[in-house]
Amino acid sequence: MNKVRIFDTTLRDGEQSPGVSLNVQEKLEIARQLARLNVDAIEAGFPIASTGDAQAVQMVAEHIRGPAICALARSRQKDIEVAWEAVRRAERPVIHTFLATSDIHLTHKLRLSREQALEQAVEGVKKARGFTPEVEFSAEDATRSDWEFLSKVYAAVIKAGATVLNVPDTVGYTTPGEMDELIRYLLENTAGIENVVLSVHCHNDLGLAVANTLAAIGAGAGQVECTINGIGERAGNASLEEIVMTLYVRQDRLKAETGINFQEIYRSSRLVSQLSGMLVQANKAVVGQNAFAHESGIHQDGVLKERLTYEIMDARLIGREEKVLVLGKHSGRHAFARKLGELGYHLSGEELDKAFERFKQLADQKKEVTEADIEAIVSDELSRSEELYRLDFVHVCCGNNILPTATVRLIRDNGEVLEGVATGVGPVDAAYKAIGNILGLSSDLVNYTLQSITGGSEALGEVIVRLAGDEHSFVGKGSSQDVVIASVTAYLSAINKMSSNQMRRNPQKDFQEKQSWE
Ligand code: KIV
Ligand code: ZN
Repeated sequence: MNKVRIFDTTLRDGEQSPGVSLNVQEKLEIARQLARLNVDAIEAGFPIASTGDAQAVQMVAEHIRGPAICALARSRQKDIEVAWEAVRRAERPVIHTFLATSDIHLTHKLRLSREQALEQAVEGVKKARGFTPEVEFSAEDATRSDWEFLSKVYAAVIKAGATVLNVPDTVGYTTPGEMDELIRYLLENTAGIENVVLSVHCHNDLGLAVANTLAAIGAGAGQVECTINGIGERAGNASLEEIVMTLYVRQDRLKAETGINFQEIYRSSRLVSQLSGMLVQANKAVVGQNAFAHESGIHQDGVLKERLTYEIMDARLIGREEKVLVLGKHSGRHAFARKLGELGYHLSGEELDKAFERFKQLADQKKEVTEADIEAIVSDELSRSEELYRLDFVHVCCGNNILPTATVRLIRDNGEVLEGVATGVGPVDAAYKAIGNILGLSSDLVNYTLQSITGGSEALGEVIVRLAGDEHSFVGKGSSQDVVIASVTAYLSAINKMSSNQMRRNPQKDFQEKQSWE
């Protein structure tokens, strides 16, 4: 069996998904989960891109132990210095520098000759090697580059000290056959390649990212770059769970394995979906809601007789079975905190108090509290870390033959009490309009989803909303057995994220006075 390294880029390329914006706390929580999943490397961000990104990389580098922590940088001196500053406290810091090598990018985007690009790539790697012994170089748009030139660039960066060479299919253009040939070509024709790790990074524009990644592994790649749920730029990146489970289920043919802890796959998928607001489609392989559901009678009959008739893997292997907590309404705060620790969450102080209070309320009302319920509660508390407005009171009046009306009271962080009333087409619309009246904003709600966490009418309802800001959008999440409260909580959480972003960018202005994002 060949060992394949899993390089996870959920926090970097995954966060480049349109509409996704994670705060530092959320990134740290995902990084903790990736460490439990046992990925080999976490690409934590692109520090030169924003101070938020730099901070997140720094936090991940300081707090996460186990996987190598990587920071992305263009092949530019300043980028590399900023990347190093962010990642330097990691146990195993990696700088990942990249420069495009295709003529399309060189001519139209960078306006560099091939010679200039080669020189810049080498300078970048040398600079990075001055900081850390682990340096990855990516030839952006490698799969549309001239193969001879590509191999020349890789040979030059190996000489300059690169330890990993990455082959990105930046625009998801290649096919499995072509990827196989390219990897074999590079392995045969690049001087010094036997001393470094060859990696691939595939995008999914034609739905081939996983197939291309597997083809590269078959041809000899030693590392693959991927994201949880396949999130990423445009159609996304290769999905970690699909690669890992294909290697496991078809080890007879693929003869390669990873060090991934399968039990953590489903939890990783749920966490990333909740925090990013990117819902997983029901028919998504491995982690989709229907991936192990059998609808037809013939299939159900077959599975009842023998699971292997229609299932190629066991859902329990990836941690999908619904676990009912041994905790109940009589459990204490310590037992609850210990259980959270077992689930991998680290809450303390006020966050822990609030989560515990909500757990008690839920345990009082619901026969069985599941791990999924607890995850929903905890991720709510985590996304509330930067709360400018807190919900104090919401009352809605609705039904048939009545105009839905909502009264909402919010408390600002300075103690100010804000109240508003509005009518709407339904209770959620009325509550959102009441909040809009209070804060003087006309909501630019681009997305609203509601789903139940478990079955039954007493289940927690989980709402995810996305609000459009001037530069990017903000995701808010809320869960409650009352869907109006879940909706209001999610809306406020997105507003709080938007407002703290506004205040970071414009600290001297009062958020309520700032109208530009309306
Ligand atoms: O898709 C791409 O080319 C990238 C590189 C920065 C590796 O994300
Ligand atoms: Zn990419």
